[in-house]
Amino acid sequence: MTGVSDAFVLFGASGDLAEKKIFSALGRLEASGALPPRLFGVAKSGWQVEQLRDRIRSSLKAHAPDLGAPVVEALCRKFDYLDGDYRDEKTFKTLATQLGQSVAPLFYLAIPPSLFGSVADLLKKNHLTQNARLIVEKPFGRDLASAIELNRTLLGIVPEERLFRIDHYLGKDPVLNLVYFRFANSFLEPVWNNRYIDNIQITMSEKFGVADRAAFYDEVGAVRDVVQNHLLHTLSILAMEPPINATAEANREEKTKILKAISPLVENRIVRGQYQGYLAEKGVRPHSATETFVALETSIETWRWSGVPVFIRAGKCLAITATEIMVQFKKPPISVTHEPFPPGANYIRFRLGPDRVEIGLGARAKRPGPTMVGQPIELLVMRNQAGEEEPYELLLGDAIRGDQNLFTSQEAVEAAWRVVDPILKPEHPIYEYPAGSMGPGEAEALVAQHGGWHNPKDPASGTS
Ligand code: BG6
Repeated sequence: MTGVSDAFVLFGASGDLAEKKIFSALGRLEASGALPPRLFGVAKSGWQVEQLRDRIRSSLKAHAPDLGAPVVEALCRKFDYLDGDYRDEKTFKTLATQLGQSVAPLFYLAIPPSLFGSVADLLKKNHLTQNARLIVEKPFGRDLASAIELNRTLLGIVPEERLFRIDHYLGKDPVLNLVYFRFANSFLEPVWNNRYIDNIQITMSEKFGVADRAAFYDEVGAVRDVVQNHLLHTLSILAMEPPINATAEANREEKTKILKAISPLVENRIVRGQYQGYLAEKGVRPHSATETFVALETSIETWRWSGVPVFIRAGKCLAITATEIMVQFKKPPISVTHEPFPPGANYIRFRLGPDRVEIGLGARAKRPGPTMVGQPIELLVMRNQAGEEEPYELLLGDAIRGDQNLFTSQEAVEAAWRVVDPILKPEHPIYEYPAGSMGPGEAEALVAQHGGWHNPKDPASGTS
C-alpha cells in the first residue's frame, strides 16, 4: 500500500510513552501539516475526551514548549478518545464506527507486548486491517523463539510492508549521520575495513538508574533493553556495505546482511554487572540477577570485517550519560621518529549524544621543539543538540507516509536475536559495581589487548 494514512489511532494514549514522546512528536507533525485529519486515543482509564486533551496540553507544555497555542489546540481538537478494554470486542466495534469512512488507518500499539496479540486479533476480526498500517513498540519478543512467534502473530494481521517496528534509535539524527558520513566521504572507503581498523568500540553509558521503570527493567536487563536492538542496529549501520540505491529495501537489506554476519555471543566474552543498590529499587525482585551493565566482544564475519573485534558496553548508573563509537585504526607498522607509537592514537570517534554530537579524528602530531616527539591531538567537530528534531517525529511522519526505511524488518529483528540468544541464560555470573563507575573491573580484561576501553569524556568536568 502506498499513500498517506487517513487516520491515526494510538493504543496506550494514557501511558508514559505517549506523555513523554508521542504527543510532542504529534504536535510537531501538526505544526508541519503532516498529520492525518483524524486522531484517536484509546486507553482504559475511565477518561473522557477532555482528560485526554488536558494530558496532551500538559505533555506539550513539558516536552515541546516552543509549540504555540494554536498548534496545541489544533492537535487537541483533532483527537477523539475511546475508553475501553483492549481485550473486549466492544471497544473495537466502537472504534470501527468512529473510524467511519477511513480506508487507510494507522494503528500504533504503544502498549505492553502481552496485549499485542489480543489487539491485533480484534482489529482483524472487526475488519479494520485490510488497508491499515500497524506500528509496534519494542521489545519485539524476549528471545528468538518469542520474536518469531510475535512476528507470526503480527504478520497474520498485516503484511510486512504495512508493519512498522519502531526502534527510536534508528531515527536519531546522529545515528542517521553515521550512514551519511560513511557514504558521503570517499576518503573513508579505502580504510574502512580489516586491513586498517584494529577494533570498534560502542559504549552506551547512562548515569541514571532504573528509577520508575524498575519492574519492567528487571524482566529485561541491559542485553534485551539496548544491545539486541539499539546497539546491534547501530553497529549494522557502521559496518554495512553501500546500499545499491536510497530505497528502504536497499538500506534494510544491507543492514540485515551485517546483523546476519555478527557472530553469536559466547559466554566467555561477556561480562555482566549490576549496580550496588539495584536490589533495593522498588519493583526489583529479591536476589534478582538481572544485569544493569554488560560488556561484550563479538565480530562481523564478512570479507570486510572478519578479524576486527567489536566491543560493546552498556549500563545504567555509570559515570556519565553519553553514547560513543570509537573506530580505532591500527598503529603505523614501525616508528621512524625515535618513539614507540601507543595503540589507539588514530581513530574516528562519533559521540551520538545526548546534548552533544561530535565527530573526532584522533591523530598524533609533533610537539613543538627540537625533538621528533609527538602528542595525541583530536580534530573535532562539535554541535550542541538542543532543539534537535526528536526521533519520534521523524519516525511517526515516515509511518504515516508509509516509508519503512528507518523501521526494523522481521529478518533484522530475528537476526539480532540470533546474536544474543545464546547468552540469555537465567543463571550467569554477575559482578557488582559502584554507581558512578564505568562498570565492574572484570570488563577491563575483554579489551586489555587493544589498549582498554575508551571512556566518553564529560566536557564540563574534564573527567571520564
Ligand atoms: C530505551 C531503553 O529503549 O532507550 C532505555 O529502554 C534507554 O533503558 C533508552 O535509557 C535510551 O534512549 P535515549 O534516546 O534516551 O538515549
